[in-house]
Amino acid sequence: MAVTVDDQAQERPERAWRHLPADQQPDWPDRAALDQVTDEISILPPLVFAAESRDLTAALARVAEGQAFLLQAGDCAESFDSFSAESVRRRLQIILQMAVVLTYSSGVPTVKIGRIAGQFAKPRSASTETCDGVTLPSFRGHIIHGEAFTAEARAPEPRRLLQAYHQAASTLNLLRSLTRGGFADLNRVHSWTQDFVTGSPEGRQYRALADETGRALRFMTACGVDTGSLPTLHQTEFFTSHEALLLPYEEALTRRDPMSGDLYATSAHTIWIGERTRQLDGAHVAFFASVANPIGCKIGPTATPEEVVELCASLNPGRVPGRLTLISRMGADLVTDRLRPLLRAVRDAGHPVVWACDPMHGNTFTSTSGRKTRRVDDILDEIAGFFGAHDAEHTWAGGIHVELTSEDVTECLGGSHKVLDSDLDTNYETICDPRLNGRQSLDLAFRVAELLRARS
Ligand code: PEP
Ligand code: CO
Repeated sequence: MAVTVDDQAQERPERAWRHLPADQQPDWPDRAALDQVTDEISILPPLVFAAESRDLTAALARVAEGQAFLLQAGDCAESFDSFSAESVRRRLQIILQMAVVLTYSSGVPTVKIGRIAGQFAKPRSASTETCDGVTLPSFRGHIIHGEAFTAEARAPEPRRLLQAYHQAASTLNLLRSLTRGGFADLNRVHSWTQDFVTGSPEGRQYRALADETGRALRFMTACGVDTGSLPTLHQTEFFTSHEALLLPYEEALTRRDPMSGDLYATSAHTIWIGERTRQLDGAHVAFFASVANPIGCKIGPTATPEEVVELCASLNPGRVPGRLTLISRMGADLVTDRLRPLLRAVRDAGHPVVWACDPMHGNTFTSTSGRKTRRVDDILDEIAGFFGAHDAEHTWAGGIHVELTSEDVTECLGGSHKVLDSDLDTNYETICDPRLNGRQSLDLAFRVAELLRARS
């Protein structure tokens, strides 16, 4: 007798999510082809190891306790087309630069997580898109199909899951060697600046800070500290993350850890649930509840205090510090009003969450030129509102979650170089949402550093 998907779910309690409605999944034309690919993936090596994810939980527990700050950043959607060693190195570089700025200014460690090595699947507000009278499925990321507006490109292609796996594997391989092998050495902070940033005000401010860190290192050496033998100065801990939207891919990479006996998502160190798939009775929440990784959940302006406390109870029943990060994405106008009741409710319910601010997704609009964009000023306002709300509720503003690139793109408006509406077409490269460019990102790090200093 044929075994149905539901029978399998009954045999394996960890697959209980399969009975539940999963939003934002593509319409696969050939389920058998998808199953064949996920079977292949399920016997490939894990991309990350459970012990690494546990290290991240421990690092995030320090954030939850107010002893560290979280920087989670990277592409809105990684591309299969612009993938190269250079692009990985540059994406790491801007995050390392921002982390140095934040750590040096705040005096607390920065936990670094990239939206990288797996950020391939996108939720969409509308499932179809119409252009010149032609209606096609909306673009959902390179793990599913191509972004060109043709029926061929937009047809879901299961073999892309394998390509995503292999790209994530080689990205991680490079990230591991760059962060362990000297590239991330604190003596090299000067060398992380890209040419177009060097002469800018942000670039100069960064150089001054890099000079200071260099002096601090020389001072330590002069005092007799053997800085050469301290691995923390020459290597860095860097973690990977993505929105775990595409459940068949995630399930194929979920493995039982022999040490703890727990299930872990091995597609990334940490994964998050998007704003559109955080239904309490949905498949995503059930899947996330079944894995032991540190996890995140986006929280938008419609979330009620009761709903958020219930999410905490479902996703972190054991109240483990560092297990759950709530990523608020309210929009600059709403953040003060909407966030405070949530902070109060979670605090009063005694849930030890990390609160991070995504100042991007509540501030997106279509410009007069027809481009999807965001204003740097709105992004900064939302972060300031986030810090203000935490101050008022005596909770810890734990971190930021941003979409950025180190490249000189023109996707977000404003910044010290003032990208204008009329500039958006010049270098608009993203395949999904608009990202801060290298200068805007560095500038943002200095502004957040000021907020951190004002707090301590
Ligand atoms: C994202 O982080 O790219 C995203 C789609 O966010 P949200 O779920 O908050 O809209
Ligand atoms: Co996005």
